[in-house]
Amino acid sequence: MPIYTFASNIGQLIVLSLGIWLIIQGRFTVGLLISFIAYVSNFYNPLRQIANLWASFQLTLAAWDRISHLLSLKSNLQIEKIKDETSTSSLVKFQDVSFMYPNGKEVLKHVNFELQRGKTYAFVGPTGGGKTTTASLISRLYDATKGNILLDGKNINTYTDCERASKIGFILQDPILFSGTFRENILYGNSDCGGITNKELEHRLESAKLTNLLDKFEKGLETPVDMSGDSISLGQKQIIAFMRAILRNPKLLILDEATANIDTITEQQLDIIIRNLPESTTKVIIAHRLSTIENADEIFFVNSQKIIAAGSFDEALELLMKEKGEN
Ligand SMILES: Nc1ncnc2c1ncn2[C@@H]1O[C@H](COP(=O)(O)OP(=O)(O)OP(=O)(O)O)[C@@H](O)[C@H]1O
Ligand SMILES: [Mg+2]
Repeated sequence: MPIYTFASNIGQLIVLSLGIWLIIQGRFTVGLLISFIAYVSNFYNPLRQIANLWASFQLTLAAWDRISHLLSLKSNLQIEKIKDETSTSSLVKFQDVSFMYPNGKEVLKHVNFELQRGKTYAFVGPTGGGKTTTASLISRLYDATKGNILLDGKNINTYTDCERASKIGFILQDPILFSGTFRENILYGNSDCGGITNKELEHRLESAKLTNLLDKFEKGLETPVDMSGDSISLGQKQIIAFMRAILRNPKLLILDEATANIDTITEQQLDIIIRNLPESTTKVIIAHRLSTIENADEIFFVNSQKIIAAGSFDEALELLMKEKGEN
């Protein structure tokens, strides 16, 4: 661009000087000089376009470099073909599991617990206690450093990503959505609903009692979701993530603080939707608000690298109070 601007200015300067000199000599007219100056800028226009094109080309090359790097990344969660001898009737089983983040932070140590089919579990504990980490291990977002995790009777490492994802609906504390439409976001990664028409989808939403939630979005299924701006609130994000998880009809539904940013009336609607799930669905509720977990069949207390079955609601409350007292 600087070369183009310099050359174009020099060109105009030459035409102007030569034109004035010729006009003084009476061999040229002012009108002709003005036309020539216009021609000079026309002459340089294609050069400017080439300069712009070159700049865009350079930007594209840099972007491609980063995209191809991302596309060539290989998952470090290998699918193993181990023969499983440790069968279990529970849906999830942690066998002596320890977990350490790559930065050396050990969050779980020799943990054992089981989640039975069709029951509701609550995970409580102080902030930073390891609840989200435990849920991430159940969904195999990370591999355990030591020990085994069994899902639906098999070692979790033997499932393909697709098989595992179809069994688990995980609503993250801060859900991840993609730019596109509401419809694209709730169907993301749902192999059952590939190519489904809007009418069929509405029917599915109706039978899962999700229509009330859809009504909260002005343009319904076609509501644009723009992740580059703040066009969507955290509560709305959680509703979309919730609908995405419920539509999969998972065997295990994990709600990690999933209603923390949702108003009380909508929260009650979510409760009705959860109750409408098949009886065999196992639910894991992670919550700070104890009122959310009152109806859980079993409460686990997660802290200090341990997961302790707290038994009753009162026992969990006692453990939490004791924890607060110690801090
Ligand atoms: N990606 C990570 N890398 C390293 N350490 C992490 C990572 N994520 C969490 N931790 C650490 O692991 C511990 C447990 O974190 P986790 O997110 O599981 O807590 P939590 O019980 O879900 O807390 P909260 O109630 O605030 O959601 C914390 O001390 C945290 O600092
Ligand atoms: Mg958490």
